[in-house]
Amino acid sequence: MNKPKVVVTRRWPAEIEARLKALYDVQLNESDIPMTADELKLALQTADALLPTVTDSITAGILGVEGKRAKIIGNFGVGYNNIDVNAAKAQGLVVTNTPHVLTDCTADIAMLLLLMSARRASEGDRLIRNRQWTGWRPTHMLGQKVTGKTLGLIGFGRIAQAMAKKAHHGFGMRILFYAPSQPAQAIMDDLQATRCDTVEELLSEANFVSLHCPGGEATRHLINEQRLKLMRPSAHLINTARGDVVDGKALIKALKEGWIAGAGLDVFEGEPNIDPGFLELDNVALLPHLGSATEETRVAMGNRVLANIAAFFAGEEPGDRVV
Ligand code: DGY
Repeated sequence: MNKPKVVVTRRWPAEIEARLKALYDVQLNESDIPMTADELKLALQTADALLPTVTDSITAGILGVEGKRAKIIGNFGVGYNNIDVNAAKAQGLVVTNTPHVLTDCTADIAMLLLLMSARRASEGDRLIRNRQWTGWRPTHMLGQKVTGKTLGLIGFGRIAQAMAKKAHHGFGMRILFYAPSQPAQAIMDDLQATRCDTVEELLSEANFVSLHCPGGEATRHLINEQRLKLMRPSAHLINTARGDVVDGKALIKALKEGWIAGAGLDVFEGEPNIDPGFLELDNVALLPHLGSATEETRVAMGNRVLANIAAFFAGEEPGDRVV
């Protein structure tokens, strides 16, 4: 029997590419250059499965291409706002993602950014590299203490809960969260967490605010000028979710004018193009979307995609089906 044909849009960890080669008639992307819309359309016309990642925009226009052969889109990523899932559903395509395996590493990056922002780590690193450090002194580069402070989480899914665990059990932080649904009582008890009725309530109380909601139209610019003004002048905003959850222009203004003390960002609107306004600021720590970027996690994400498409080709329900 012929092996199913699969198209992978970017380089994946070597051991996963080797498994794909053994199992499928696979088209890898050795150049690692993002595929164009036309190349993505052709992939849908010529392959049984398209395996994109979170930076490939799989629009309704692409999904609507005539003469499709593909039946499944196995996204390499837990977030799938890069795919127009309504259009995929209308076209009868199955879509899967890669949950669970990146939870801890993404929470680690959120905690890293929180610490970097609070303790001015990027600024200190720059100071040394620019050979401007003149030595220790009692008033030099004072940041804010993290231990015992209040962390407010917007969204309270797996990654937010993992961060809350690290923050509460590791740093003695008090946990507030805003989420559409109530988590299990055991989770609330373990974290001694308090649910806020509104985003506004959380923003005005927290010393650190960390974003953990999905991207997309429903959450676009959830953190806007008006809401940034509700935060404490000593507060820090951490974003490891999606860039478009924050109005970047408003955040730059908030950081410049001191409405808040700092920010730690792993994701950006329109990334990898970053608003140059961020680059001029000392009170923002910037990372290039590293949330899931560990060897272990990226291999686990690849295995998750492999399991999803294997189930699909075996006529079973893929474990991580989203539509
Ligand atoms: C995701 O999976 O959604 C992250 O943004 C990249 O790992």
